[in-house]
Amino acid sequence: MNVALSGASGLIGGALASSLEADGHRCRRLVRRTPSEPTEVEWRPERGLVESPAAEGLDALIHLAGENVAAGRWTAARKRRIRASRGPATRRLVESLASLERPPGVFVCASAVGYYGDRGGEVLDEDSPPGEGFLAAVCRDWEAAALRASAVCERVVMLRFGVVLSARGGALARMLPPFRLGLGGRLGSGRQYFPWIHIDDAVAAIRHLTDRDVRGAVNLAAPEQVTNAGLTWSLARTLRRRAPLPVPSLALRAAFGEMANETLLASARVVPRALQEAGFEYRFPKLEAALARELSPDTPART
Ligand SMILES: NC(=O)c1ccc[n+]([C@@H]2O[C@H](COP(=O)([O-])OP(=O)(O)OC[C@H]3O[C@@H](n4cnc5c(N)ncnc54)[C@H](OP(=O)(O)O)[C@@H]3O)[C@@H](O)[C@H]2O)c1
Repeated sequence: MNVALSGASGLIGGALASSLEADGHRCRRLVRRTPSEPTEVEWRPERGLVESPAAEGLDALIHLAGENVAAGRWTAARKRRIRASRGPATRRLVESLASLERPPGVFVCASAVGYYGDRGGEVLDEDSPPGEGFLAAVCRDWEAAALRASAVCERVVMLRFGVVLSARGGALARMLPPFRLGLGGRLGSGRQYFPWIHIDDAVAAIRHLTDRDVRGAVNLAAPEQVTNAGLTWSLARTLRRRAPLPVPSLALRAAFGEMANETLLASARVVPRALQEAGFEYRFPKLEAALARELSPDTPART
């Protein structure tokens, strides 16, 4: 396949590019600077694709780029960047696809389970209505922008990612230092559902959805539903440590403000209905096996 990828330097994009290249697919990277290699394609979030013959005739364009959501407190400036790098940037990227002579066959765009907002124990599949809050609004706008690509591409797929578990980045990598010191603990009540997926399954699922005749929103989460307390317990057990220090909601709100409410303390009991209907087989359907894989000294380093 001839695939192009935005956000290729990120946690998921890096793993996806390595996986595609290892299987002999041609993988072009969308870069937000002047390209330094013929395999790179220039795009600017404020302009869309910059004219490039390398963007013609792609089988798939996989759009993962976006300002990191969990990197810190949501200041007004960070919220602007989070919002602008998703809906508006995607809208411009999609608009620029129309000027291609041969637009991509499939447009695959990241989204997030943040679409559902904070929903307690309600079971959420792809037909569940969106939730409320900043992230839910960002995801709605992002998906609406992505859907416009159906005017020029045969298919559009929106990837509603749960938390992608990798020891090399993202949420798990941030949790590991305190847990390794035996200073971990549940967040708030710990009763909030924590949708998760192992990085290898996230990459395999993106490839599965890119290849198959699937369209629309797809939850990228493991079939095993766990709460934050369950995650805390499993992580401590895998590391052979105790996790005796629950972090009160008040402390999280004081430290991280709105970000704490919408990510660390929010509950989304997400089921991967569309992915399972598409015949995807998980390598890590269970959390403990996923954690054991990531924390094993034998796990090969990813590039
Ligand atoms: N990892 C998760 O657990 C998770 C969960 C839910 C949703 N998602 C979504 O899935 C996508 C990929 O996730 P990830 O974990 O790989 O993200 P990541 O590691 O933060 O990487 C995102 C990439 O986007 C590009 N980027 C950063 N800031 C940007 C900005 N202001 N405007 C445009 N592009 C920007 C960068 O790539 P370049 O420098 O190469 O352009 C960056 O490497 C993201 O959109 C994320 O919101 C991820």
